[in-house]
Amino acid sequence: MNAARFPILITGAGQRVGLYCAERLLEDGEAVIVSYRQERPAIARLRERGALALQADFSDEAGILSFIDALKRQCSGLRAIVHNASQWLKEDPGEEAEAFRRLFSVHMLAPYLINLHCSELLQRSQPADIIHVSDDVVRKGSARRPAYCASKAGLESLTLSFAARLAPHIKVNSIAPALLMFNEGDDADYRARALAKSTLGIEPGPQVFYQSLRYLLDNPYLTGTTLTLNGGRHLK
Ligand SMILES: NC(=O)c1ccc[n+]([C@@H]2O[C@H](COP(=O)([O-])OP(=O)(O)OC[C@H]3O[C@@H](n4cnc5c(N)ncnc54)[C@H](OP(=O)(O)O)[C@@H]3O)[C@@H](O)[C@H]2O)c1
Repeated sequence: MNAARFPILITGAGQRVGLYCAERLLEDGEAVIVSYRQERPAIARLRERGALALQADFSDEAGILSFIDALKRQCSGLRAIVHNASQWLKEDPGEEAEAFRRLFSVHMLAPYLINLHCSELLQRSQPADIIHVSDDVVRKGSARRPAYCASKAGLESLTLSFAARLAPHIKVNSIAPALLMFNEGDDADYRARALAKSTLGIEPGPQVFYQSLRYLLDNPYLTGTTLTLNGGRHLK
């Protein structure tokens, strides 16, 4: 069957990086499925452009399994799955265990269960890809957000395991970005410190992420790798 007919699923694509990638993929003529948690105006715009948008909350197993059911009812095959959904959650004192549980659920349990249950959809496409969105912080750990960091490290480990398990038909890789886009509330001091962490010293925007995504989708000889996208942070 012609793989171009099968859609690319991007989770958490209601804003920022995921939304940008969904828009670029549509421009490139790909069919796109997005998951979103909150209904935002951007979701309606993606629908108008032909994307299928499915509501999903990956905070627990029930929410993840219900998304998988809805997905399977609506599509017969997938070209790729991009696990982008993420929470940049702080571990507030007294709430650490709940934060850890939520981060585990969105960064590890959701990709794990979606990969397990939806690899049969990917098997119908050639080529077929799973792409996990990790974080460059995994390389050195995080004193401020250990739970976020650990759950993204777990996701990178899943990359290795699923790459071995699903080869040769499905390639499985990660992208590990450092700063791509600031959040609205980031103050000048935070911005200056974040920019100073990399040798290239810029806020690159989501375009560089899309280039990396495209590279992994188009390259037939990469699996089980993590593509670092960090402006040279490891050199400082
Ligand atoms: N932006 C950066 O500079 C940067 C740096 C390093 C790594 N990354 C990684 O790159 C990816 C995209 O980053 P971003 O900044 O665009 O992320 P973002 O703005 O935080 O968006 C992530 C999306 O995930 C969805 N989401 C969060 N928790 C969810 C849950 N429990 N169930 C379902 N969906 C959930 C959110 O949906 P709703 O909005 O609908 O709630 C949100 O739209 C993430 O994986 C992030 O960790 C980004």
